[in-house]
Amino acid sequence: MSALEQISFRVEPTKQSRLSQVDFNNLQFGQIMSDHMLVAEYNNGQWTDLSLVPYGDITISPSLSALHYGQSIFEGIKAYKFEDGTVSIFRPEKNWERFNKSAARLQMPEVPEEIFLGGLKKLLDMDRDWIPSKEGTSLYIRPFMFATEAALGVHPSISYKFIIITCPVGAYYSKPISLKVETHFTRAADGGVGFSKNAGNYALSLYPTQLANNEGYDQIMWTDANEHKYIEEAGTANLIFRIGDTIITPHGDTILHGVTRRTIMELAEAWGFKAEQRKVSVQELIDGIQAGTVTEAFAAGTAATITHIDRIGFEGQDYTLPAVEGRDFSNRVLTYLNELRYGKITDPYGWNFIV
Ligand code: COI
Repeated sequence: MSALEQISFRVEPTKQSRLSQVDFNNLQFGQIMSDHMLVAEYNNGQWTDLSLVPYGDITISPSLSALHYGQSIFEGIKAYKFEDGTVSIFRPEKNWERFNKSAARLQMPEVPEEIFLGGLKKLLDMDRDWIPSKEGTSLYIRPFMFATEAALGVHPSISYKFIIITCPVGAYYSKPISLKVETHFTRAADGGVGFSKNAGNYALSLYPTQLANNEGYDQIMWTDANEHKYIEEAGTANLIFRIGDTIITPHGDTILHGVTRRTIMELAEAWGFKAEQRKVSVQELIDGIQAGTVTEAFAAGTAATITHIDRIGFEGQDYTLPAVEGRDFSNRVLTYLNELRYGKITDPYGWNFIV
């Protein structure tokens, strides 16, 4: 038995599966949750009450500190089903590591590997039938942790809940997206929490994103807090550009260190491209689009996978990117990752974590 399997969970299978309610040919992102969830409690410095139970409502106190002061973090991971029924999770150990970095920044406890990864394996084993196999579909996995102390003093909570829920999903974005370069609002500043996957980073994006939507853009391209000069990320995903034969992604602790982003940069290097993590100014991007050297731009994330960007708005002007069909690098990555994740090719990097 591996170390991940040694920990034991109380298991309560559902009495009434909801699987028959799912239309696997028309999956909406995050709408219908799988039958079971993992729940663990943190009290007195220890993780206790590990359980795999039917998905359902939880009871919380109105003075729950997460609601008031925002100690709340999450992850996004995907699992895939091969043609022969094998279930594989894509690089979940990277999400586990990032989760604990988010936890440390928000003064929350670490979740041990055997609960996060070991528990996830057991959960997916229970809900195998919920994992879709059609290309473009997957099981989205949402681990999250929040403070549960019922008290209004501003201090780190003494108790926490860690939960994993899952849902079968299709594409988060069903077509290329347009981005508005944000030069007023700020997502993250140096020394802040930009790298952590905490709930507040998403809450703060909603109002500026609505303003961008009102102007006809799908999402925001965040820029740095100091000068609004350098590109950061898209909020629901990281950003990657191809300029000439170099694959470039913005760098720093004000952006989320995405697992998909990392994967793509590793592939770029392995395939002989120059791969750079560095500052990219909005001006460099706009000049490159106009000169024809920026040939590809895309959002990269677990939910977004690779979503092509077709238009960028900056200071009242729109800049259009080349046609999606000609984007050899991002299209090659998409094809390669699809084949790898659905087990159609060998996995030279050990990215598939088999359940
Ligand atoms: C993910 O890509 O998993 C995310 O967490 C983005 C999400 C907010 C839709």
